[in-house]
Amino acid sequence: MYVPERVVTNDDLAKLMDTSDEWIQQRTGIRERRFVEPGQMPADLAQAACEQALEAAGLEVDDLDFILLATLSSQHDFPGTSFFLQEQLKAGNVPCIDLRAQCSGFIYALNFADGLILSGKSRRVLVVGCEVQSTGIDLTTEGRDVSVLFGDGAGAVILEANEDEDDPAGLLNATVHAEGKHARRLWIEAPSSGHAPCRLTHEMIDKKLHFPSMDGRYVFKHAVTRMPEVLRESLAAASIKIDDVDLFLFHQANLRINEFVAQKLEITPERTFSNIERYGNCSAASIPMLLAETARNGKLKPGQIVALTAFGSGFTWGSAILRW
Ligand code: COA
Repeated sequence: MYVPERVVTNDDLAKLMDTSDEWIQQRTGIRERRFVEPGQMPADLAQAACEQALEAAGLEVDDLDFILLATLSSQHDFPGTSFFLQEQLKAGNVPCIDLRAQCSGFIYALNFADGLILSGKSRRVLVVGCEVQSTGIDLTTEGRDVSVLFGDGAGAVILEANEDEDDPAGLLNATVHAEGKHARRLWIEAPSSGHAPCRLTHEMIDKKLHFPSMDGRYVFKHAVTRMPEVLRESLAAASIKIDDVDLFLFHQANLRINEFVAQKLEITPERTFSNIERYGNCSAASIPMLLAETARNGKLKPGQIVALTAFGSGFTWGSAILRW
């Protein structure tokens, strides 16, 4: 994983808008987040995370067959982020794409990587979640309900075909869902290719349509229902009992959402791990960042069962079960 060095505390945000450390911590659990410095691009964050993943796996870039990059904050709408990452990694002609499923993007990407590997089309897939959100949020009082939540960061994993019958490690299941009728409850309206004759106008910018807008309570309500539901579904598909899961890693959107989910499923705090207090909501990057931190700090050990669950704009949601 990689996060930019610049730390932005709740008190720093309170200098820009009418908010407070107390409000943010009470409602979300966030204390600080990281923002990029000018000139630092999404592909730079992704590159740092991917290089660490390659090193940890003892692999070279030439060993990769596919690069899947999940993001909601692409470096350029056209063509995205993954191509700049591919260039920076010096990955020759390895195919790459951006995958867009917002905060559930990493789980969606695991699902795709699983398909590529099981079909025999790819042997090793680099899956990266990467977000630079700080440049796309309204850092005034008008945008405070959304802008206090988000942060910048990247995380990466490498999936590899495992043909060793004596080695049970791997992705046991990835289940994903979507319900597009809620798409306008958490979205960025402009630019839009559906706005003729021009996808971005001065008027749209004056109306702040290029910033995310969110119906926070509506999102909260759906998240606390869908996350336990899909987690149970994925566990059943993997034939794993909830009591056999060693570690639950939930997308870091709001600590309160995750406490609700844990309570519903009767999961004790020792079986979870959070880093939202330090990084905020890093959307598609949040789950691979959790994997990296828990693998490093010893909370996630080889052989353990880890359950991942996310919910995001679209609406999208999903869960994956891995044996580490
Ligand atoms: N600082 C201070 N006050 C704020 C604020 C901020 N950053 N943002 C909103 N407020 C104000 C509101 O204007 C409102 O004031 P009013 O009562 O005078 O109208 C008040 O705080 C309460 O707002 P409300 O929206 O009811 O708060 P909430 O308890 O629903 O919490 C969220 C807001 C955003 C923290 C919460 O709804 C949430 O986390 N939703 C899910 C968001 C999410 O997960 N998004 C990403 C999904 S991937």
